[in-house]
Amino acid sequence: MKLFFETDYEKMSRRAAGIIAAQVINRPKSVLGLATGSSPLGIYKLLAGWNRAGELDFSKVTTVNLDEYYGLEPTHEQSYRRFMNDNLFNKINIDKARTFVPDGMAKDFEKECADYDGLIEALGGIDLQLLGIGYNGHIGFNEPGDSFEAATHRVKLTESTMAANSRFFPDGGMPEYALTMGMRAIMGARKILLIAGAEKAEIIERAVKGPVTPAVPASLLQLHPDVTIVTAAK
Ligand code: GLP
Repeated sequence: MKLFFETDYEKMSRRAAGIIAAQVINRPKSVLGLATGSSPLGIYKLLAGWNRAGELDFSKVTTVNLDEYYGLEPTHEQSYRRFMNDNLFNKINIDKARTFVPDGMAKDFEKECADYDGLIEALGGIDLQLLGIGYNGHIGFNEPGDSFEAATHRVKLTESTMAANSRFFPDGGMPEYALTMGMRAIMGARKILLIAGAEKAEIIERAVKGPVTPAVPASLLQLHPDVTIVTAAK
């Protein structure tokens, strides 16, 4: 596990964006696993800027996102598909047909989840998976529980996650369920890059130094051979 302690959010974003850019330059056909949330916004801004400047080409890249709220239309302001379009995909030269986010409107969510795992497998797995982390140690929407969930699955969001994310739904209506990539696809990624701002210091400490336990889903990353964690001190 490689750890970078950056002084602030800007430097954290620059370090992480540089790692993603290097991946895309070394392998233009990379499969990138992407994340939503406030943490990666700085990274996406930098990547879009480098793309605009002609320094970084996404034309051959494929992306698979970690998760999506269950029950939100892709056009909903708070859907993760919309987030990705607005913050990254519409700003870079990626082929939209090669950007994948679980379908939060899928009636048959079990099929959608199985298809999503099938897609990741058909793509040959993920080259680089970007992760944020929840205050309770969730990655994607793999919430704390009694066991690690291997497959993409539908999850009932915990109180902690509902509390953390309800600020994005000021008029209410935050979905209680989400579809999330499971631990198998995440742990199967060849490289993992986790970013965590200063507010996540405590949970990062538990995830990195504490026991490997499904009570802290991110702790499983201790068993992955190529994890880079970039944190910010403020
Ligand atoms: C969200 C997402 C995660 C994200 C995490 C932290 O609920 N499902 O993928 O990493 O919670 O979000 P933020 O970066 O806004 O703190």
